[in-house]
Formats: sequence, C-alpha cells, structure tokens
Amino acid sequence: MIGVFDSGLGGLTVLKSFLRVLPSYNYIYFGDSARAPYGGRSQDTIYGYTKEAVDFLFAKRCKLIIIACNSASAQALRKIQQEYLPQKYPGKNVLGVISPLVEEVAQDKNIKRVGVIGTRATIESDAYKIELKKLNPDLEIFQTSAPLLVPLIEEGWSRQPETKKILKKYLRPLKVKQVQILIPACTHYPILYKEIKNIMTKRCNVLNSGEVVAQSLKDYLERHPEYKINKVKNPVVNFFTTDDTKRFRVMAKKFLDVDVEKIKKVCL
Ligand code: DGL
Repeated sequence: MIGVFDSGLGGLTVLKSFLRVLPSYNYIYFGDSARAPYGGRSQDTIYGYTKEAVDFLFAKRCKLIIIACNSASAQALRKIQQEYLPQKYPGKNVLGVISPLVEEVAQDKNIKRVGVIGTRATIESDAYKIELKKLNPDLEIFQTSAPLLVPLIEEGWSRQPETKKILKKYLRPLKVKQVQILIPACTHYPILYKEIKNIMTKRCNVLNSGEVVAQSLKDYLERHPEYKINKVKNPVVNFFTTDDTKRFRVMAKKFLDVDVEKIKKVCL
C-alpha cells in the first residue's frame, strides 16, 4: 500500500498521475482538508500536521508515503526524513515532490533560467531554489508566490476571466525574466495548466508536475524492492479526509475525473 498525503484535495492531481503511471498498486489518499490550506502556515505548524499525517498513514500500514503537497514537502519533509523517521520509523521512508521536479529541470543542460510558482510557504522556504542550485549552481531561479490561486480553484473559478487576470499578474515577473521552464509547485495548479501554458507561450516549457513525480516514483519502486510494495490484480484506492466527505466527493470528481466511493472521515 502506498500512502499519498496532501493538505487537502489538490494532491488528487498527483494521485491521478500515479493511477495512470502505476495503476497496479493499492493506495491510501489522505487529505487534511479541515486544516487546509497549509500554504499560509508557519513551518512549525506544517511540520506538526505532516507528522500526524505520517503517523496516520503508517498506522494504516502504508509501506511508503508520498507527500504530494508542495508546502509540506518544502517546510516539513527534510525534518521528517532526518529526525522523525530515524527515531520513530527506522527503515521506513517518506518522499516528497521537490526532488523529482528539480532533477527533471537540472538534467536539461540547455536550461539556464527557471521559474517557480507556488504557495507562500513553498516560495518562502526557498526549497526549490536551494535544491536546484545544489544540482546546477549556474541556474538563475525566479520565484513567485500566488496565494490567491488555491482558493480560486477550490471555488471552481478556474475558467473565470478574473482568475486568468490574476494568473497573468502572478506570471508576469517570470515571463519578463524569460524563464525557459516553469515549475508549477503546487498541487492545485495542474487544474490551470492550459491557462498557464497560454500565458507563458511556447517559449517556456511548463512542467507537468504530476507526471514527473509519478515517473520518479516508478523508478524509485524499481530501485527499492526492499519495501515489498506488491502489485495487485484488483487495486483499490481508499480515501480519508479530516473534513466533510460530501464536499470531498464533489471536489474529487473535479480533481480526479472519476467518481470516488470509499471516503472516510477521520479525526487526528
Ligand atoms: N497542497 C498545497 C501545495 O501543494 C496547496 C494547498 C494548500 O495551501 O494547502 O502547496
């Protein structure tokens, strides 16, 4: 069983790619919707919430956990990996979304200017910048936080002209810098993928973050048979949320494109 954690519903865009690239596994998706969004919260708070999510998913017998949330990957993952796991879950692992995305960018030696757009927590952590620089110190990295996008998407306003205007405003500084590649560093942004591509034009490659993370997970599973995460004939996905299951179902249809059945509410 593979655990997928997000602050709420956005991580379903990542799960969608997992189900496409790695369809033969059982998954548990856990969305902490009652405490979302994480993007405006402090590091301590995000770390505390993420630890609880990790406890929950390991208690559900997940053999590996993927933190789909960029804000949690940026603000909590390193501490989880370096301090929490060795002490509480030796031999287990939790992965995030930042390494796969920066590796994808850094492997293209023609790329010199990179744009990153994300929540405030993600951008202020500088996690993408730090990791990109480790792989290629010559990269020029331009970042922008876009705190209004998550609520607009959750409100179903993705196709509204107001949202396009706001998106344009957020992307403008990156466009002016002529970034060659853009990392949409937030689980919700794939919903705006087309709009982002249109604004950035053909001159900028917009990463399909879910697909990159899914391919990287595929490689990881191949390289780490010791986790014994078996493929199954009739895979299932169980959903858990800390908030209302009705809203989760409606939003899940939008993010995942399928009707989801097995949703349970949990209190942490
Ligand atoms: N899942 C979050 C992320 O990827 C976006 C929503 C939030 O702020 O909690 O950063």
